[in-house]
Amino acid sequence: MIQENISLKQYNSFGIEAIARYYAPVTTIDALREMKIVYDQLPVKELMVLGGGSNILLTKSFNGLVLKNDIGGIQQIDEDDEYVYLQAGAGVNWHSFVLHCIANNLAGVENLSLIPGNVGASPMQNIGAYGAEIKDVFHSLEAYNLQENSLHTFSKQDCEFGYRESVFKGKYKGQYAIVSVIFKLAKQPTYNISYGAIGQELEAMGVTELSLAAISQAVINIRSSKLPDPAVIGNAGSFFKNPELSNDVFKELKSLFPQMVGYDLGNGHTKLAAGWLIEHCGPEEGVSWKGYRVGDAGCHAKQALVLVNYGHASGQQILQLSQAIIDSVRQAYGVTLQREVNII
Ligand code: EPU
Repeated sequence: MIQENISLKQYNSFGIEAIARYYAPVTTIDALREMKIVYDQLPVKELMVLGGGSNILLTKSFNGLVLKNDIGGIQQIDEDDEYVYLQAGAGVNWHSFVLHCIANNLAGVENLSLIPGNVGASPMQNIGAYGAEIKDVFHSLEAYNLQENSLHTFSKQDCEFGYRESVFKGKYKGQYAIVSVIFKLAKQPTYNISYGAIGQELEAMGVTELSLAAISQAVINIRSSKLPDPAVIGNAGSFFKNPELSNDVFKELKSLFPQMVGYDLGNGHTKLAAGWLIEHCGPEEGVSWKGYRVGDAGCHAKQALVLVNYGHASGQQILQLSQAIIDSVRQAYGVTLQREVNII
């Protein structure tokens, strides 16, 4: 069913008010195909496939059709000695998929607990947290080509995963609707607690024997303590990516700013903590961006990488704040931050 002039406020985790000219939820591939045919006859030229809406910033009303991808279902489709292969619909909430895996003793996604959004968006930006990325458990996906109206299978290689990147954010942007993803989950866990904060949290929790559930809970505790809950304060997680620099450039910066935080990637490059850069500059002398607020747009007080909407900020106001932060970081450190969130 196509609806007209629908507010997207409840469909984006930033809680930004924006009107969609047309809006249609789809729960099956057939419905998606039918809606695409309807769209081709509409007097508009824009199509947006929306998942959980947790990685977008709406900056204007949308004069086209929003296809809300609600394709659900989790099925086991294969099994071998080491792995179970689960197929999940693009519209399945990511965290409920993680909980499903943990309940069935399947390992690989526990470090990715509580990431907002749906399964369909997870490969788009190769979601990652606490030492894990979706590419580590990804097998393949099925996507609907919106120009050719046909289904395609993408292997892991086809997706060209990078740091918060894939072909769906790059060369095929806007061309496909991901309909389902197959994950390869280990029957025997290899616990990954290399990320410092996880070990500390497990200790604070008094955990003596590792389990998928314990790691998941540790991640949930860490995330809840630092990151704003979108149900309470609008946000889209990290607004910027952590920039990568050559080790030489990092060394120079570090000699000027000894406290600067960076991680050697082992390939001649260092990943800078963008949160540190943002925290250590601001709109004026002696004021940090971290915790800064202008109207209802702000930079989160506990994690400077996250921009927030305290209630009625417009997408333009958040965008302006992000630009002011980019300019100020560039001026202070000569580093240009890239946005991670999709601007629409
Ligand atoms: N830091 C600061 N000030 C801040 C925030 C961070 O100085 O306000 C420095 C600290 O030194 C801290 C370091 O940055 O130790 C790293 O911070 P954190 O562990 O919070 O991680 P992050 O690099 O800021 C990335 C991901 C998050 C993910 C965490 C944990 C990106 C863009 N973000 O953030 O992902 O949860 O690591 O693995 O890579 C997301 O993509 O939406 C997201 C939340």
